[in-house]
Amino acid sequence: MPTETPQPAEGNHERSARLRTLLRTKSVEQSITDTEEPAHALRKSLSALDLTVFGVGVIIGTGIFVLTGQVARNYAGPATALAFVAAGVACALAALCYAEFASTLPVAGSAYTFSYASIGELPAWIIGWDLVLEFALGCAVVAVGWSGYIRSLLGTAGYPMPRALSGSESGGFDLLAFALVLVITGVLVAGMKLSARVTSVIVAIKVTVVLLVIIAGAFYLSGANYRPFLPPARPSTGARAGLGAPLVQVISGYKPTMFGVMGIFTAAAVVFFAFIGFDIVATAAEETNNPQRDMPRGILGSLAICTTLYVAVSVIVTGMQKYTALSVDAPLAGAFKAVGAPVWAGVISFGAAVGLTSVCMILLLGQSRVFFAMSRDGLLPRFFSQVHPRFGTPYRSTVLLGVVVAVVAGFTSIAELSELVNIGTLFAFVVVALGVIVLRRTRPDLPRTFRTPLVPLIPVLSVLASLWLMVNLPAETWVRFVIWMALGFVVYFLYGQRHSRVGASA
Ligand code: ALA
Repeated sequence: MPTETPQPAEGNHERSARLRTLLRTKSVEQSITDTEEPAHALRKSLSALDLTVFGVGVIIGTGIFVLTGQVARNYAGPATALAFVAAGVACALAALCYAEFASTLPVAGSAYTFSYASIGELPAWIIGWDLVLEFALGCAVVAVGWSGYIRSLLGTAGYPMPRALSGSESGGFDLLAFALVLVITGVLVAGMKLSARVTSVIVAIKVTVVLLVIIAGAFYLSGANYRPFLPPARPSTGARAGLGAPLVQVISGYKPTMFGVMGIFTAAAVVFFAFIGFDIVATAAEETNNPQRDMPRGILGSLAICTTLYVAVSVIVTGMQKYTALSVDAPLAGAFKAVGAPVWAGVISFGAAVGLTSVCMILLLGQSRVFFAMSRDGLLPRFFSQVHPRFGTPYRSTVLLGVVVAVVAGFTSIAELSELVNIGTLFAFVVVALGVIVLRRTRPDLPRTFRTPLVPLIPVLSVLASLWLMVNLPAETWVRFVIWMALGFVVYFLYGQRHSRVGASA
């Protein structure tokens, strides 16, 4: 019938218009122009060295200071060093993709900005929402880890914290973690310069402590602790059975994921947390003097330093103490106590506590900058992207997120949150790697001071490596992640899509 013929065509037209809306991109030129609006511009003050210090400042943290012991005991034994290598390789592949994006798009917002310019608005929103998970929960996790070290030092000094204020593990409120996040929020509002200076001192202490573990620990090694280097595989048990088992195990029915070769990958998916942070260097692009040259140096440099230190620390610690006896709370300090060197243990605990402060600070900084970028684009209320008239910082988003993270840190425990942070970050890596391939095709003309080698091979390998670590995370972590992302879709369709500045100017 003639009257019905146009209807399917109309439907197709609407569908393709809708798809165009979801995939509308923000041009690279527009991204850079936005950063030049005075009321929404961040101050440019960082060099390559600042970026590397920032990177190392956020990368070395709870991962090496706390998770090493848990992973060695439960999944990999002395082969934990190999888990760090596996996670490091996945991160290096992702770093090569991040570096190309960061050197092409010197604007705030990290993977969020990159995907807005390359793939489209909805994927960008998904990534921004995902980064909220990574940075905010990551900051909460590290604050709780910090609080544990401080409580242990206070206990040793004869001033134990009351149980009611000692965190969720003891059924209370974590006053120390809560207070730490609020203090850091104040420092960040006061401006980049101050926080970068404080950070460099803290990073120096932290790296010194890590080197101290490696050098002093080398005198206490025992060959017997390395045997067996790769303990025999066995099925996962306890909280790691059922939905607590890695997704790959739930899907394939392959049971032995503790120890053995699969144990190395289960461990790698957990210690991946130790590498989180190099991507945050990319979030500071807008505040960098010469992003085209300095971003790749900052990202790859900090990653290389940290991977080397992690492998060395895990080889030393599993050689000092049998992996079955390692402490799950403070394995580095615990190993020194075990060999009869309590003074070293005290120094290491102190350095760890100081070091975790900077991790917390930079995670919160990265978070506030992503939120800032999303707000500047209208996907979140524009109210949050006004910068402070005197300090030049996005103070509204910083204060809002600081308070939320402080409350989360006050009430939650480390274990499950850190796995959720890992899956969110790995997902962002997948999108960034795909974005490199897309942007090479859609905008081959853009100047790229750093080009990812062997495109599309490296991005494809990066996607596969990230996915592999993701499927080695527990099935229940996947369920939580899917719920969080579904919530993000609701917010986008109820607010972001209607208020998008790119949409308004189309
Ligand atoms: N990589 C950081 C840490 O290990 C987040 O704490």
